[in-house]
Amino acid sequence: MKPFVLIVLSIGLVFCTGMTGQTGGVRPTPAALRMYADLRHLYIGAAVNTQALRLVPQYKETLSREFNMVVPENVMKWETIHPARDTYRFDEGDQLIAFAQANQMKVRGHTLVWHQQLPAWLTTGTFTRDELLDILHQHINTVVGHYKGQILAWDVVNEAIGDDGGMRASIWSRIIGPDFIDYAFRWAHEADPGALLFYNDYGGEGLGTKSNAIYELVKGMKDRGIPIDGVGLQMHIGIGSRLNPASVTANIKRIGDLGLQVHITEMDVKIQDGSGTQDQRLTAQADVYREITDVCLNAHPCTALLTWGFTDQYTWIPGFTHKADAPLLFDKSYTPKPAYHALMGRLVGDF
Ligand code: XIL
Repeated sequence: MKPFVLIVLSIGLVFCTGMTGQTGGVRPTPAALRMYADLRHLYIGAAVNTQALRLVPQYKETLSREFNMVVPENVMKWETIHPARDTYRFDEGDQLIAFAQANQMKVRGHTLVWHQQLPAWLTTGTFTRDELLDILHQHINTVVGHYKGQILAWDVVNEAIGDDGGMRASIWSRIIGPDFIDYAFRWAHEADPGALLFYNDYGGEGLGTKSNAIYELVKGMKDRGIPIDGVGLQMHIGIGSRLNPASVTANIKRIGDLGLQVHITEMDVKIQDGSGTQDQRLTAQADVYREITDVCLNAHPCTALLTWGFTDQYTWIPGFTHKADAPLLFDKSYTPKPAYHALMGRLVGDF
């Protein structure tokens, strides 16, 4: 680390912890992830459950204290934002943007083209290729246009590659063909030329069949002059199947060599697939968060690290796996877990 950064971080730490216990006029300022992320020019973010944001004061306080970036967990997906062919609902997304702006946070937009959480009018309709292209164009133009200037980065296309490395079968690939991806990026760029445009996927974090396919996809897009700025690595992982940090680093580097950024977009670390006591699992989870934080801090060009939620009170994992879990940085009562301290330790650096 550069000496200057070290000094600033040291002063920050002394300032934050030094006030603790004082009485009288000065209120203690708890250290928070975003203070150190700011100093490192890293976005540290979380996916937001907008209902919890509205209803649970502690949720709102923790989110605004700790993070400098948010992404809506669900409310900008088709089924919510475009529930009928001629109806758009922006209210919940607008509320999140207002919250982010009031708290000096950046916003990622998620997601414009995906095969899940689509409205019934779309999945049960029968459309020709031209009609579906028209619908997609109108959707992207309307949604990206509505949020123009307010979204730092959009996940334009989500999960278009299958686990075998081939193009995933979806309404988009079947009816339009693989070039739905190029169209989507061009239209998003037209609607907001200032937004960074990302391809986002899971299971392509380290080197392998899927990440090779993602690499070839985005390389082809760059070669064709398609406006793409980055790749999102979702990072839904677990303590039972650890990623090799060197392999993730190598993957991020080759994406960087194409002139693209990387965001870690949806990190959570399941403990249900590990072994040992709960404490041992939480320690192993902290090790994984530490490892991935190190990868992102050291591998150019990883510019954002987001978790998919932040409190174990609100996580999609138990609903998805049908097993209890605790994959995030804060426990259900908003107490920082070992994983939080591991991540914070790496952001602060060595003293
Ligand atoms: C998940 C949400 O967290 C759930 O609330 C919802 O029921 C399903 O979608 N990859 C993605 C996210 O890109 O949009 C998904 O979010 C999790 C997997």
